[in-house]
Amino acid sequence: MSYEPESPEPIGLLDGIASTRAIRRYTDDPVPTEALNAMMFAATRAPSGSNRQPFRFIVLRDGPNAREAKRLIGESARRIWGGKRAADGYDRGSGADASTPKARMARTMQHYVEHFEDSPVLVLPCLVRYREPVPTEGASIYPACQNLLLAARAVGYGGVLTGFHVFVEPQLRELLHVPDGVFMAATITIGKPAGRQGPVRRRPVAELVFEESWDEPPAWAEDPPGTRHTAAGPPRPQ
Ligand SMILES: Cc1cc2nc3c(=O)[nH]c(=O)nc-3n(C[C@H](O)[C@H](O)[C@H](O)COP(=O)(O)O)c2cc1C
Repeated sequence: MSYEPESPEPIGLLDGIASTRAIRRYTDDPVPTEALNAMMFAATRAPSGSNRQPFRFIVLRDGPNAREAKRLIGESARRIWGGKRAADGYDRGSGADASTPKARMARTMQHYVEHFEDSPVLVLPCLVRYREPVPTEGASIYPACQNLLLAARAVGYGGVLTGFHVFVEPQLRELLHVPDGVFMAATITIGKPAGRQGPVRRRPVAELVFEESWDEPPAWAEDPPGTRHTAAGPPRPQ
């Protein structure tokens, strides 16, 4: 049985993938448990090495542990963003003009960290290690995180994956009884988007896909008509 969102806006898989943006502003609406269940079902359907399913998700809504975890991560988020804002010069250059993408991003981030504790749902995706860490171990947890975000999009919600837990991981482990040997992989917040959903902006597919050899764009690599791109990303040869 699949969950039918209250205001159905059926969206195909490819369109959903192309319009699952990082959502950092939420309304005060709670996330109904049916919607949450649909998201967590999708998350737990993700692939993992040998189908071991080492992923576990701690869902934090409004219980006492949820409030404390949100407080801990919220404080950490404000420290991390404050440092990044200064170090990366978000208020300098084009950031000084309020209409630029850089300035908009800074406003969104500032709002996000200031209201972190109000995020309707906080999810901490974890990976139960069954061997010494290998470089690919994230491949058994991050697809599940993306499934969660895609499913949120599908049922009318949105979220963002961050690393804001890292500096308060010891406190979170103690609070939530996370055992040793469990990797805390991310911090995800979810809620009803306060703004619009819309297409993600990336670099053109031909810049990111090669065939046969490094840096050889395939002749067939074309973005769908109307695709808009971002200027962000690694420096490119002129
Ligand atoms: C591995 C990873 C780490 C991220 N870390 C953060 C983070 O710490 N804080 C944050 O606000 N967003 C974080 N994001 C979200 C990205 O900033 C976001 O996906 C990117 O800016 C593109 O925006 P869009 O997905 O809305 O197009 C992270 C995303 C990924 C995949």
